[in-house]
Amino acid sequence: MTVAFGSVPRLAYLVAALLFVLSLRGLSAQGTARRGNVYGAVGMLLAVAVTAMSALHGVSGARGALELRIALLGAAVVPGAVIGALVAARVAMTSMPELVAILHSFVGAAAALVGIANYLDPNRETGALHLTEIAAGVFIGALTFTGSVVAFAKLRGTLGSKPLLVPGRHALNALMALSCVVLTVIFLAEPAPGGILPLVAITAIAALLGAHLVAAIGGGDMPVVVSLLNSYSGWAAAAAGFMLSNDLLIITGAFVGSSGAILSTIMCRAMNRSIWNVVFGGFGATPAGGGPTPGADRPVRETSADQVADLLRAAKSVIVVPGYGMAVAQAQHLVQELTTILRERGVQARYAIHPVAGRLPGHMNVLLAEAGVPYDIVKEMDEINGEFSTTDVVLIIGANDIVNPSALTDPSSPIYGMPVLEAWKAAKVVMLKRSMSAGYAGVDNAICYNENTLMLFGDAKKSVGALVAALRTGW
Ligand code: TAP
Repeated sequence: MTVAFGSVPRLAYLVAALLFVLSLRGLSAQGTARRGNVYGAVGMLLAVAVTAMSALHGVSGARGALELRIALLGAAVVPGAVIGALVAARVAMTSMPELVAILHSFVGAAAALVGIANYLDPNRETGALHLTEIAAGVFIGALTFTGSVVAFAKLRGTLGSKPLLVPGRHALNALMALSCVVLTVIFLAEPAPGGILPLVAITAIAALLGAHLVAAIGGGDMPVVVSLLNSYSGWAAAAAGFMLSNDLLIITGAFVGSSGAILSTIMCRAMNRSIWNVVFGGFGATPAGGGPTPGADRPVRETSADQVADLLRAAKSVIVVPGYGMAVAQAQHLVQELTTILRERGVQARYAIHPVAGRLPGHMNVLLAEAGVPYDIVKEMDEINGEFSTTDVVLIIGANDIVNPSALTDPSSPIYGMPVLEAWKAAKVVMLKRSMSAGYAGVDNAICYNENTLMLFGDAKKSVGALVAALRTGW
């Protein structure tokens, strides 16, 4: 039996699509996530290799045509692969959301450029359906591109995290979206190549819209925006797939688009935000008050590692709340050592994980898994929130916004409405951080000033290291 080359890409794409399904399935649980990642990487390698082979297959004509194709492909693939590998190997875990945001911008830019190049290709399909695909691909691509660049700048701190609330912004957004619809109608009616002008206008307006939508989102809601842009980048890739008649791009784009949309909805639910609020760029958001200035001169109760060690020795139950600061300090291994000592001594020690702790979905779960913390003592917010009131000691390690009571009590707070870990209900709360600085949302945290809260100032790794040493010597 012989297999014509024409069917090889289709078969390979089918295998790659199956690997992507297995990948998504694997990534949905902590225990199988690594395997899921490997499936995804193998699927992508297969897809890229087969696409490159198809691009070279059957190239004929003038001498040197094949060499030129190989050189062009090499010039695109080799630097891209090298830069991607270097950046991914070097990126700090805490900078992951920025990297994800900028990668989404590449997908958006690619979809917009593919749309414009496809329109200018004399051999492209001509029907109205294909032209609509081009206009839609360019629209979503340009919107994703600038939205992701603004998200990148906000996450990086280059742009402030405060929402940009331009008066009449919803009317402005609606006007921009409507003009893109009108321009699409003109684009469809215009014989080629005259449609390039409306197409470029759609690109420019969509780019402006993307930047404006994301600029209107406040810092605390950025996790949802990143996941929403992830979804948009998937739809942009699917649109590029339609333009290029590439089945795998359509399938993969749809996977990314729909899983990103599901993740955004889950995160919105976890943060008690309306998905439409985020989609329409801060719909219903009001300029934030935000309570007293972070670090305002209010008295707090400072403690030492030895005093906290005494509290832990006397405790029957301890809950650890890890946050962004634990990730920065890379304290997860020492934290794991601490809870192991407690458990060996019969103390019930567990972890409470907030859905947006750290800077990317699942950030704390990844760090704790890396440190070898058993999964069964790592509890999600809903599972453990009712248990703080019967807990002796809560150790808040480099977390801030996720334990801020103002999210429940202060309607002027930018994080008002976000469910938080109700750590303040425990008998004793120990906060491990370096100073009185606020967290990502820039809001002062009333928990620091409570009578049952002790502050253990210092880098989380040093403080937890001192606790471990104190427990090892004196227990
Ligand atoms: P944050 O509210 O950002 O608080 C982190 C705290 O860690 C800070 O108050 C900081 O105080 C402390 N810290 C920093 N470095 C430290 C170190 N080396 N040692 C000890 N402490 C250190 O973190 P969180 O409670 O995890 O909340 C996450 C926030 O990020 C939320 O607002 C969330 O919306 C946002 N966000 C989340 C994501 C995702 S998807 N998870 C993505 C983007 C944004 P000091 O400077 O005083 O030490």
